[in-house]
Formats: sequence, structure tokens, C-alpha cells
Amino acid sequence: MTEDNVVLSKDPNWWRQAVVYQVYPRSFADANGDGLGDLKGITSRVPYLASLGIDAVWLSPFYPSELADGGYDVADYRNVDPKLGTLADFDELIGALHAVGIRMFVDIVPNHSSDQHEWFQAALAAGPGSPERERYIFRKGLGENGELPPSDWPSHFGPTAWTRLPDGEWYLHLFAPEQPDFDWDHPDVRDDFLKTLRFWSDRGVDGFRVDVAHALTKDLSEPLRSKPAFIDFDNPLTGDDVLFDRNEVHEIFRSWREVFNEYDPPRVAVAEAYVRAERRMTYARPDGLGQAFNFDLLVSPWEVGTYRTVISDNVALAESVGASSTWVLSNHDKVRHASRLALPAGNDGSLWVDSDGRDPVIDLDLGLRRARAATLLMLALPGSSYLYQGEELGLHEVADLPAESLQDPIWKRTGHGHKGRDGCRVPLPWTSESPSFGFGSGDAHLPQPSWFAHSSVEAEDGVAGSTLELYRAALTLRRELAVTESFDWVASVDTVLHFARGDGWHCITNFGTDSVELPAGRVLVVSGAIVGGLLPTDTTAWVAVS
Ligand code: BGC
Repeated sequence: MTEDNVVLSKDPNWWRQAVVYQVYPRSFADANGDGLGDLKGITSRVPYLASLGIDAVWLSPFYPSELADGGYDVADYRNVDPKLGTLADFDELIGALHAVGIRMFVDIVPNHSSDQHEWFQAALAAGPGSPERERYIFRKGLGENGELPPSDWPSHFGPTAWTRLPDGEWYLHLFAPEQPDFDWDHPDVRDDFLKTLRFWSDRGVDGFRVDVAHALTKDLSEPLRSKPAFIDFDNPLTGDDVLFDRNEVHEIFRSWREVFNEYDPPRVAVAEAYVRAERRMTYARPDGLGQAFNFDLLVSPWEVGTYRTVISDNVALAESVGASSTWVLSNHDKVRHASRLALPAGNDGSLWVDSDGRDPVIDLDLGLRRARAATLLMLALPGSSYLYQGEELGLHEVADLPAESLQDPIWKRTGHGHKGRDGCRVPLPWTSESPSFGFGSGDAHLPQPSWFAHSSVEAEDGVAGSTLELYRAALTLRRELAVTESFDWVASVDTVLHFARGDGWHCITNFGTDSVELPAGRVLVVSGAIVGGLLPTDTTAWVAVS
């Protein structure tokens, strides 16, 4: 326990401009050599995390799990997966992080549990019509003998969201069949999550990342309404969609906020809510979760007008509810931005991965140059930035993972049509040698490519111009510079984004093909090289203007 830790301030606003680094525990560092990352592995790398200059770590799920969906199938919300360690290891990790001034977010997965959760096992055993089944969403099927799913709802991982049991009933799972959805109208479900929030908060957890926050409440009135397609970002949602973003979901988050406010400083939260930007803000209200992921940059092409609109809109939207914006370029669900930003507009990389990275052939150096520029731009924005492990090394997506190594349920559920997200979840390279590039003492659970040798921590540590040193320099400067949340555009040519922050420091990104002039002043950090006093294409600089 670390409540008496003297390093961390009690400032209730610490999160507003925090840089949060996402650790995907199974792929970060493997202390016991079984090929799977673990909590002791993360603890052993706390000095590295401290050297980055981040404010917090977000730990993706580390709970007991059969890994049907990389840990997002939770069998016990108040424990540690024995494959990853123990609660004592968790306490040691959080203690080590707090001791160096780094806070911790944990992932909460409230839409669904694992089918191995004791409640689901009890529901299976108790049979149709039992109270045990009421905590989940069981229904009779359609058709003469109930042989058809109760509705046309699709699963995110394809194809249907319903699975039939041998006793004839169907249960709902918006993701894999091993992830049955809870019925959030059931008081046991509501009470149990409050207990879970207190359990981790009492252990010193500072914040929560809330998985699929927009899906908890559904319209389950009979007959079940049709839901032919998942969210289309261009269609306005009214709060009365059958499955997503229903107005009553906020009652749940208001009750969570009451729990957060029992602590000093109050615990914080960020919603993963895949909804339109305006609707997203309802999750970020101070009486709700307080912040919501803004994935707009994660889905934007490298295009000046798009970036300008995304930034203006999100700064204004966050202000309108008293939150600060969040910014994300990479996470465990999307193709890494060093690769993605080299792809043509409209190509998010999933089809590129399906072709083993062959179609189209992309310029990886260009992708990395843009990724470095995008990151430096993002880190200059007001609000909090979420980084994903390995992006600080400039890692590319591992697009050519062999089919037999794939773990993502998307691969199986699409009949081997889509490879899914494993390419950004390959264990990190710490050193430039095998086995497993310093990840562990044996092979890693996903195969690592030979090019990891040039992008390892060892290869980049202390090397001027490396992506690792760029992140460190920017994060160190940001601590000194990002004191206020002020933000103002500065007039510039169309191909350049130029804005001023705080006391006279500016950020300039050149999206055009020609080099451009920098404002008079001292260059603080730059994502590439300044040539002849000019800022080249696909480059960002921070300048203390004179
Ligand atoms: C997580 C995914 C996960 C899904 C189901 C998402 O939003 O980020 O990794 O597959 O929720 O829990």
C-alpha cells in the first residue's frame, strides 16, 4: 500500500495534462521466462518507465483470464492472473511506480465477463429461468423451435452476437462467445462493480480506463429491436440506440463518480466510448467519468486540414464540459502509427495487415518520420496524451505474423478472413539479441521480427536522434512548459499547423512538400533535422519564440 507515499501530490487536477503510458502486460517484460509478460517483469522496468518522463501507467487487464480476448475476458475482477503474478506482486508494482512519482490506471471491463467467471458458470449450471441467468442476457431463440438467434445483433468480432447452449437458450456477447454481456439492470452487477472500484482504489490505484463504456445499457424490451450495423460515426445518435450510447448509461457512471470522490485525491477515469465527438463529451462530464478517449487522431490520415479540425473541435468540446481533451495515436487495438501514417488516406491498416504488409508496399521511413512529427505535435497539445508501449521506440506494426501464431479472436471469428490486432502486441525488444530481445529468457508468446534488433531500447538508449531520445526530450520539456492549458492558433500557410502554448512557446508542423521558415526564437526540440534554418516536410518543432 502506498497511500502515505510522499512523492505524489494530492492535486485533484493532476490528470488534466498527464501523459499516460499504456502497458499491455503480457507483452511488456517476462520475469519468469514462460514467454508471457508478467507483473514482476513490469516492476523490473520501473526505472525505464521513470526515465521516459511519463505521469502515469495504464495497465491493460491483468486479471485471471483464459485469454480468449487478450485478457478482456475477465474471470475474477478482484485478483491477478496467476500466469502474471499475485496481488502481492501488484502491490509491489504500484509501490515501485508511486515511489518514482508515476500513478497507475487499471482497465475495468464492465460490459462483459469471461465465460469462466463464477457467475456465468453458476448461470450455466442453474439452467433456463433461474435467477442466476438474470445477471447476464439469456433469451429464447426465434423460429419454430428457437433455432434462430433472438435478434440480428452482430458481434464486433463477427458474425452473430448470440450463442446457443445445449439447453436451448441463447446468450448475448457483443464480442467473443467467451465474453458474455452482463445485464446492467441487475443490482448485483451494479453493486459488484462498485466493490471492484473500491477494491483497487483501496490498493492505491489512481484511475480507471473504462472498456466499452458506451455499451453497458441496452434496450432489452421485447420484441428485441433490429440493429443491422454498428455505429456509423457520421450518423447522429439520439441516446436511444438499441445497443450503444443510451442516455441511462450515465446513471451508472454518476454512481461510480461518488465512489471516486470518496478518495483523496479523487480517483479519475477515462471512458472508451466509440461515439461521435459531441456525444463523447457526455462521458467526460465532472459528475461522470471525467475524461473520454478522443480517437480522432487515431483514425485520421496525415493531412493538415483533418488535423486542424480534429484539434480545434476537441479542444473546444472538452472545454465545454470542463474536461481536458485526450489524444491518442496508437493503442493495442490499432495498427501502430509509424506504419499507419505511411498508408494512403482511407486505409486504416487492417487490410494491409491481412496482406502481410505487402499491399500496398509502403515507405516505412516515411511512416516513422510522420509518426515522430505527429507525436511531437500531440505532446504539444493541451490535455492528456496516451502513449502505447513501444511507440517510443518507433516500432512498426509486425504485419507478417505467421497465421499459426495469431491469437486475436478476430482471426477465428472471421473464419481466418482478418488477422486482427496481434501485430501491435508483439513483445517489446529490450536488447538487440535473442532470445526474445531481452523480453524474457525464452521465446516470446508472439514471434518477434529480426528488425526489432535495430529498434530495441538498447539500440536507442542514449543515441542522439533516436525515437526513444526524442520522446524523453519532449516529455521532459513538456513538464516545464505545459503549465497552463492555453492554446491559440497562429496564422500560417495552409500546409502548416502552428499554435502557441503558455508563455511564448510554439509548435509548428509542416505537412507540405516544401520546407518552411520557423518563427524567430530558440528551437527546443524537433522531430527531424532542421536544414538550412528551415523546417522540412513531415517535421514538427517546438520553438521558444523571441
Ligand atoms: C478493447 C479491446 C477488446 C474489447 C472487448 C475494447 O475496446 O480495447 O481490446 O477486445 O474492448 O473487451
